Amino acid sequence: MARYRIAVLPGDGIGKEVVEAAFIPLERLGLDAEYFWGDVGWEFWKNQGEPLPQRTIDLLRSTDACLFGAITSKTADEAMKELHPSLQGKGLKYRSPIIQLRQLFDLYVNLRPCKAFPGNPLNYREGIDLVIFRENTEGLYSGVEFHPVPAEVREVLERHHQAMRRFSHARDHEIAISLRLMTGEGCRRIVQKAFEYAEHSGRKRVTLVEKANVLRETGGLMIREAAKVAQAFPVIGFDVANVDAIAMWLVKNPEHYEVMVAENLFGDIISDLAAQLVGGLGFSASGNIGDHYAIFEPTHGSAPKYAGLGKANPIAMINACAMMLEWLGEPHLSMALEQAVGEVIKEGKVRTYDMGGTASTRDMARAVAERIG
Ligand code: NAI
Ligand code: MG
Repeated sequence: MARYRIAVLPGDGIGKEVVEAAFIPLERLGLDAEYFWGDVGWEFWKNQGEPLPQRTIDLLRSTDACLFGAITSKTADEAMKELHPSLQGKGLKYRSPIIQLRQLFDLYVNLRPCKAFPGNPLNYREGIDLVIFRENTEGLYSGVEFHPVPAEVREVLERHHQAMRRFSHARDHEIAISLRLMTGEGCRRIVQKAFEYAEHSGRKRVTLVEKANVLRETGGLMIREAAKVAQAFPVIGFDVANVDAIAMWLVKNPEHYEVMVAENLFGDIISDLAAQLVGGLGFSASGNIGDHYAIFEPTHGSAPKYAGLGKANPIAMINACAMMLEWLGEPHLSMALEQAVGEVIKEGKVRTYDMGGTASTRDMARAVAERIG
């Protein structure tokens, strides 16, 4: 029996192409793994009314980790329109598979390394090497939202909060609420992971990204809990920065940051900003990591414009594979893969369209595979 059982969910559009390509170097590494391919994405919504079928969830439960390509998702109206006629009128609702999976498997860490590979023509600057820990299950993406806001919710809020009274004139459909819901446990565990990572990887500083001068209650809770966690890591520096200021500082001095940790929305935004500093969507990968399971994916979506053209850059997906190898406890294989990617980029002969070249998805993947001993 193979040492690892890996679920593979290619999804839609270029997701399929980059997953297939990533297997070229992955197989070359000789990881002792068995792969199980599963269904996810828009096709399964249209034809079966569920973009994340139960059989796929069961498949994931029987594996150690998952490689996820990319999926297409559309607005609620479009989703309804494209649903097969035989499934219409049954009250089916599209829900994002990746968000479902994060919740189902409690994948509370969204790990986003942003490293400038030397010689990448898309680098904003050389020398950037930071890692973002984004909380993945609560905060502004907790999913607790109201529109229209039920009368009893409005009453309670008006009773308990002065600020709410300013909105009491608004009619039902004129008011919407999305809750930034944070818990002490949620704050502690993401900050803990960021510090553990800093300790193991020899980084010297963790920066918490918040906005506690305005979001006083949630931000305050996060800062208090983070400061407590930081005490257990006396050799690692800890500082707190406001998210708006960080947007400026990341552009001015990106090489100053090492490990950043943030609530869901702030983490989402700074991750994309940081990803663009090191080459953009063709390079950026993330891990959705819990205590028992993890899903690794490129940050990009299904890029319908490029689907079927074999042009997409597979490096983001290959980087996702490297992250998975590290998480599985195969750091030398992970490093070998990352090194191979680094060499191909540095040499600069094989470049996909986003890097200004003409290499295909497979050309790039093959070039990486050839660098693996
Ligand atoms: P996208 O990430 O799919 O593509 C945006 C643009 O980025 C592309 O048109 C292309 O120019 C570039 N790009 C993306 N990946 C690339 C790659 N590997 N190599 C080279 N260039 C690349 O975002 P978009 O167009 O906003 O969304 C398309 C679909 O993907 C939507 O249905 C969206 O909902 C979904 N999506 C899914 C995600 C996921 O599966 N995690 C994440 C983001 C979007
Ligand atoms: Mg994002």
